[in-house]
Amino acid sequence: MKTTTEKFGVTPHQPSLWTRADALKVRADDPTTTQPLVRADFPVLSDDVFIWDTMPLRDLDGNVTSVDGWSVIFTLTADRHPNDPQYLDEDGNYDILRDWNDRHGRAKMYYWFSRTGKNWELGGRVMAEGVSPTAREWAGTPILLNDRGEVDLYYTAVTPGATIVKVRGRVVTTEHGVSMVGFEKVKPLFEADGKMYQTEAQNAFWGFRDPWPFRDPNDGKLYMLFEGNVAGERGSHKVGEAEIGDVPPGYEDVGNSRFQTACVGIAVARDADGDDWEMLPPLLTAVGVNDQTERPHFVFQDGKYYLFTISHTFTYADGVTGPDGVYGFVADSLFGPYVPLNGSGLVLGNPSSQPFQTYSHYVMPNGLVTSFIDSVPTDATGTQIRVGGTEAPTVGMKIKGQQTFVVAEYDYGYIPPMLDVTLK
Ligand code: FRU
Repeated sequence: MKTTTEKFGVTPHQPSLWTRADALKVRADDPTTTQPLVRADFPVLSDDVFIWDTMPLRDLDGNVTSVDGWSVIFTLTADRHPNDPQYLDEDGNYDILRDWNDRHGRAKMYYWFSRTGKNWELGGRVMAEGVSPTAREWAGTPILLNDRGEVDLYYTAVTPGATIVKVRGRVVTTEHGVSMVGFEKVKPLFEADGKMYQTEAQNAFWGFRDPWPFRDPNDGKLYMLFEGNVAGERGSHKVGEAEIGDVPPGYEDVGNSRFQTACVGIAVARDADGDDWEMLPPLLTAVGVNDQTERPHFVFQDGKYYLFTISHTFTYADGVTGPDGVYGFVADSLFGPYVPLNGSGLVLGNPSSQPFQTYSHYVMPNGLVTSFIDSVPTDATGTQIRVGGTEAPTVGMKIKGQQTFVVAEYDYGYIPPMLDVTLK
């Protein structure tokens, strides 16, 4: 894969590979990389809505930012339907699991605010109905641009298609709360090209979403990470020596792993405002390893690039596996080479006794990791579960060189600001 971007001063690069050999090192239940058990008696943020992916307001350098002392988060959100006949089971009881599993089709962007970085108050929808061009408002990133309160919300407009878009608005504060104004004109930025990033035509199960714009601490340019799959017709990918890596005898068989083709994409802005983007080859590929590397994001620490991305057990390829959770890679420069953190890539996984307790982890530069509660078993056999749709306890983590360590647990949905901006 060659890049054509030298005109923007971007060095051509080869994607780094997350190999099958790396993934064979994944060890579920290692206490240093396992999220503490989430109790079944968790509180819920709201009885009216489910929330999942959580996107703290931040600046382009990655710092979680409050405004006039108010912390702000955006969440993917969907109404709960406890009284809708469509979600009643045969006995007339609310089938919350079915309601929860259907949420992706009606995901909308909401915002919440707080004085304490927890106990979030619901602000409401960011965009009015009809503003976003597609049915689903999927994950992205709200960026506080300046002390006038201007916010660029980058997100994914899905169904039909999957387009990375942005919409500009403003955060307004009073003594009593926060509101979002504007967010009326959605600007499409780009879609998968079929040459570097797989399109829907190439694979009905393609992924192209979750923009995470940032300013590179070294060259100062505006870039964006996103989730993709490697371009090519479904089934045409090769899992060769490079993708397999250095495996022990008996581990050479790759089965049907050619169907798993996740990658972390990157684009560079041609303008200062981030209205005009050029896609570059992926930073990292996971062909033969995993089909989803979702919500990629960076922590810039100790002069290094820590790249985090969330993934699932069910998206692993034949012959490799790992828990649902966040995985990470580190490099000395933006374009790599990236090596898996902790040898395997696993940074914070669910315990095997509660494999779906949390998901959509977001690692903040202060080492705190937020996620949402998916479902927690309520009996010893794990057949009874309680659905979450709410914020999980925040985990504290230390990042040291090529290793990470779980060191603390905090309150549900604890997302403290790293800096405060006084609005003018
Ligand atoms: C992660 C995720 C994102 C996507 C959203 C859809 O939980 O799959 O990749 O934007 O959820 O609901």
